[in-house]
Amino acid sequence: MSQEYNNNHEILIKFVNLTKRFGDFIAVSNVNLEIKRGEIVGFLGPNGAGKSTTMKLMAQLLKPTEGEVWIRESRNGIGYENLVKLTNHNKDILLDNIGFLIESPAFYGNLSPRTILKYFGKLKGYPRKKLNSRIEKVLGMMGMEEWIDNKIKTFSKGMRQKIGIASAIIHDPDIIVLDEPQTGLDPKARKDVRDFIFDLKKMGKTIFLSSHLLYEIGEVADRIAIINNGEIIAFDTLDNLEAKSEKSIIQFEILAFQEEKVQSYIEELKKVIFPVTGIDVTAQWIKYNSDSRRFQVLFDGKPSNQFKILKELIYKGYEIIEFSVPKAGLLEDLFIELTKKNTIKMEE
Ligand SMILES: Nc1ncnc2c1ncn2[C@@H]1O[C@H](COP(=O)(O)OP(=O)(O)O)[C@@H](O)[C@H]1O
Ligand SMILES: [Mg+2]
Repeated sequence: MSQEYNNNHEILIKFVNLTKRFGDFIAVSNVNLEIKRGEIVGFLGPNGAGKSTTMKLMAQLLKPTEGEVWIRESRNGIGYENLVKLTNHNKDILLDNIGFLIESPAFYGNLSPRTILKYFGKLKGYPRKKLNSRIEKVLGMMGMEEWIDNKIKTFSKGMRQKIGIASAIIHDPDIIVLDEPQTGLDPKARKDVRDFIFDLKKMGKTIFLSSHLLYEIGEVADRIAIINNGEIIAFDTLDNLEAKSEKSIIQFEILAFQEEKVQSYIEELKKVIFPVTGIDVTAQWIKYNSDSRRFQVLFDGKPSNQFKILKELIYKGYEIIEFSVPKAGLLEDLFIELTKKNTIKMEE
């Protein structure tokens, strides 16, 4: 019954033309992705883009309207054989090797992590004799060992999320799928989750994790798949995505600038700067960041246009006291840019 797909043993997950419609609405549209052994793939898209739906299709919580999910079959966690098409008949075998955390888990507040993890461990067929030490190990990895017998209702959001992740990986799966694991957490908890994801990668796990915020996954992901309106609009390393976008940001500070007048300044600056950004009219923008007191402008990254922008500003009498092209400035804006206009084409 199992069909061979190809011989590339590096690919553990493959979505082929995966599509999900709810009535006339297309939530996931013809998604094709390959996730390789040991890599972290970030799944990035604004709210409503289709991330959770894609993950639910993978977990067989939803049935695809069209298309397929292929998963490399694991033999007792040792060798991998063929990529196998996920169906209703083989899902137990294939999904046993995957840990899913899809949307926020709800736990009964009166239960303890030990009780919850025992339940999930048994459900997933983890050897019972080893389950207690496995629970202690997983909670230890997350710095939660002292809370093992406390009631969940006393936990913070970050602690609950850690228990959610622990329940997804309690059976020690090789593939881990986490839907927005950092969303809604405070910075400390977010860092803990990020560090934990790195630990899992060091153990050789293959991780597919989603977020609607680039900075949550930009640091951990080896490759990023960007989804917008159900379509994959880019899939590459962050460096390559930036290089392909052919855009950069200029930021500058104006002497004695009065913040109350920011809107009228922006309208004036648009007239001066927009003719020389080298960027398509529909994609142009100027913003003011009140923390750094700097204006930011998207341009095409060409030094000649960088010079033209500076020249025009000075010619128009703006007293520029700082003018630079920050290296890391583009990340979040790149994402906004990509989801606004599907300008980056996939290579394959
Ligand atoms: N069961 C459903 N019925 C109808 N529409 C749905 C259903 N589930 C999700 N959607 C819609 O599909 C789109 C994608 O949702 P989702 O995958 O949850 O997005 P994301 O996780 O990226 O925020 C949204 O517009 C959402 O309203
Ligand atoms: Mg979601």
